[in-house]
Amino acid sequence: MYQIKGLRLPGMDVQTSELSYLDWCGDALAIGLFVDDYEVVDELQSLNNRLNGMVKELINEVGFDGKEGSITATRLGSNSPIKKLILLGLGKHETFKLDGLRQAAALATKAAQKEKSKILGLSLPPWNSDIPLSTQSIAEGIWLSSHQDNRFKSDPGETKNVLEQVSLLGLTDQTSTLVRAQQIVSGVILARELVSAPANVVTPASMAETATTIAHTHGLELEILEQSDCESLGMGAFLGVAQASDLPPKFIHLTYNPPVTPRRKVAIIGKGLTFDCGGLNIKVAGGSIEMMKVDMAGAAATLGAAKVIGQIRPKDIQVHFISAVTENMISGRAIHPGDILTAANGKTIEVNNTDAEGRLTLADALIFAEKLGVDALLDLATLTGACVVALGDDIAGLWTTDERMADELKTAANLAGEKVWQMPMEEKYFEGLKSIVADMKNTGPRAAGSITAALFLKQFVKETPWAHLDIAGPVWTEKERGYHQPGATGYGVRTLVNWILAL
Ligand code: BES
Ligand code: MN
Ligand code: ZN
Repeated sequence: MYQIKGLRLPGMDVQTSELSYLDWCGDALAIGLFVDDYEVVDELQSLNNRLNGMVKELINEVGFDGKEGSITATRLGSNSPIKKLILLGLGKHETFKLDGLRQAAALATKAAQKEKSKILGLSLPPWNSDIPLSTQSIAEGIWLSSHQDNRFKSDPGETKNVLEQVSLLGLTDQTSTLVRAQQIVSGVILARELVSAPANVVTPASMAETATTIAHTHGLELEILEQSDCESLGMGAFLGVAQASDLPPKFIHLTYNPPVTPRRKVAIIGKGLTFDCGGLNIKVAGGSIEMMKVDMAGAAATLGAAKVIGQIRPKDIQVHFISAVTENMISGRAIHPGDILTAANGKTIEVNNTDAEGRLTLADALIFAEKLGVDALLDLATLTGACVVALGDDIAGLWTTDERMADELKTAANLAGEKVWQMPMEEKYFEGLKSIVADMKNTGPRAAGSITAALFLKQFVKETPWAHLDIAGPVWTEKERGYHQPGATGYGVRTLVNWILAL
């Protein structure tokens, strides 16, 4: 697992420097520019004079217009104080978002790597005049974009980081902000590495071990319920899903206890299927079965957030981090389609589709969490392909019974640069889950599949404000995307942390 010491991620030092980019010397200088900035920024014209007209020449030569995500780089003469100049387009000033800083920082970092620069000076304008938040986002962008996961490659090849140091220019000391960024990144990287690792590495037992390490390293309370404990609590829905696997299930419960009497208590519940083959309603090849190691991404985000919160240690919020972890497999012991399971609250469920297993595990986890007497419940789950059909790969679906939670989560996600879209809690659609023989079925008709999934979960929450994020889309990316490499994105960690810290 990735170890982060001081302000360093392996091979990557981020610091602030009070020098303006006019006075800075180093391998590569990257400057963020809004559309039409060149004509109005005096500093840039001074830099142009200092560099013998090279800035203007570069802009004219490639027609650089500051368009968002655009980038151009040039080599300056060998007697220049800066060896390479990189210009980053930030788009229009009016539409610039905080996440634009993460994206621009990632672009600069990757360009500097490509140019084989060891020392990068980076100058980006603050968002909304908020220097700490801007600095934090820039550092996140740098560290997240330079994280490379070579754990399963016998030869990491040419991927070694050349870049050693990034100086954020024109800033007074921001050490505490950089520490915060590094704590957050450590949680995102943990989540990414848990999701990327295959199901023969990340198992219910290994997830429990990871939770144990977090508890010991960051001072959280730890409770791991074994199968027999779950039986005593009547978790028939969770155990039904687990019964075909050769690996024993683990029910993880970490608690962050603040030093004073908590002002608010919340629980975060992550779906933790270390592999989902679908059960006897088995998934087909090419129908994403080979991707179903990602089905514990909710639990990964939950553990990632626990790692961050254990480091930040908010003063008066208690947070429970919960996951019912198992595999969904087939064997002679598997649930038959049509079996009836009883959840810990006594409600009976006709399992008309064994591939709708996440909601069964979450049902018992939600019941457990509500009994803790918390003020809010939030679950994250790679719950439905239907949510991906509705919102695509970049956006999570948000369902809630509580508009205040909706607002809190939208704000938290927005600052995190993680997209969510609120979806309707259309009670009438619960009709589709009516069962002839039991209290409900676990699967409704094809239409509105992500909404009926949310309505199913709602049956297991009594009166506590509750929100559900369906994260099946954004937890993985096939292509490089901004500060994400191809692979797991660590989606959810930053939203969770922002949400908790703003409570
Ligand atoms: N884990 C899947 C959902 C999923 C799909 C996650 C794509 C990540 C990417 C979930 O358990 C599942 O199989 N859902 C079914 C529900 C259906 C049987 C009602 C689905 O979406 O097809
Ligand atoms: Mn499934
Ligand atoms: Zn699943």
